[in-house]
Amino acid sequence: MVSRALGNLRRFLKPTDEVSQLGNRNAQVIAVTAQKGGVGKTTTAVHLATGLAMFHKKRVLLIDMDAQGHVEKSLAQDMPDQRHSESMGELLLKKNRDLYEIAAPTKIDDLWVVASDRNLNETETMLSTRIGKELMLRQNLAVARTHFDAIIIDCPPNLGNLTLNALVAADQVLIPCDMSVLSLDGVSSIVETVATVQDMLNPTLGLLGLLRTRLDRRNITMNRTIEDTLRAEYGDFLLDSVIGVSTAIAKAQLAGKSVFHYAPKNQGSKAYKKLADEVSALLSSSAKPVTPS
Ligand SMILES: Nc1ncnc2c1ncn2[C@@H]1O[C@H](COP(=O)(O)OP(=O)(O)OP(=O)(O)O)[C@@H](O)[C@H]1O
Ligand SMILES: [Mg+2]
Repeated sequence: MVSRALGNLRRFLKPTDEVSQLGNRNAQVIAVTAQKGGVGKTTTAVHLATGLAMFHKKRVLLIDMDAQGHVEKSLAQDMPDQRHSESMGELLLKKNRDLYEIAAPTKIDDLWVVASDRNLNETETMLSTRIGKELMLRQNLAVARTHFDAIIIDCPPNLGNLTLNALVAADQVLIPCDMSVLSLDGVSSIVETVATVQDMLNPTLGLLGLLRTRLDRRNITMNRTIEDTLRAEYGDFLLDSVIGVSTAIAKAQLAGKSVFHYAPKNQGSKAYKKLADEVSALLSSSAKPVTPS
């Protein structure tokens, strides 16, 4: 009796909005996340996305899940001229809609964005009342996944509902870690959260790696201590690429461009290109075949 009643309920629901056409790609979704603020999440998400598009000819979607909207500021010179009338927050709260509907091409070939919106914090609060609140982004990316090779998500500096949604939607997690003692605490919290999400909500979630960021090579002893701790605890997950402190990276962000465009020969540019190369190789080794959804 129960199953008959449930089966019949769908006919009382209004017809759903039409979902965009499926493509023929199968994106790997990477959440760039860390609990600690200011460790280089946005800088890494922006340069990984741009680097994969520029140097590896991948079609990439960069999603800004942080209400601060720093992706848009970092790429201000290359953002699409027009914004969609609907915001990400509105879409996340609707069923049978897809972020592909509001993705827009940037002025950089093969790089698309879904911009943040200032109301994302309210969306986060509203999400907490929804059934299946952790699954909204995953559902809202079903079509987008088929149009891109990689989807990079810049997460906010906390482990709230938006980060949780990113972890449930992701295939891989990339954790930037600046070379400070406080950052080490943040790494263990996020790794614990990733493990919990893996156990309960997304069994195929993988850890792509830990990225050392904002390394000041003058702090030899401190760097050695932190690196030894990271290596002892996370071993192979420590990526080979290391991002040093670079004023060109900070100035590029101020100018609203990637460092690849602002100062292509700078060490910061070379370091982020190396990260894009390393991640591209890791993604190829874990690539999944296209499966019809
Ligand atoms: N390698 C670097 N060298 C110099 N400055 C950097 C570097 N990486 C990031 N920055 C600067 O540090 C600041 C914080 O970086 P970013 O915004 O990427 O961190 P975040 O983790 O996203 O911060 P939030 O937690 O606020 O989202 C920015 O002003 C950025 O320009
Ligand atoms: Mg940020």
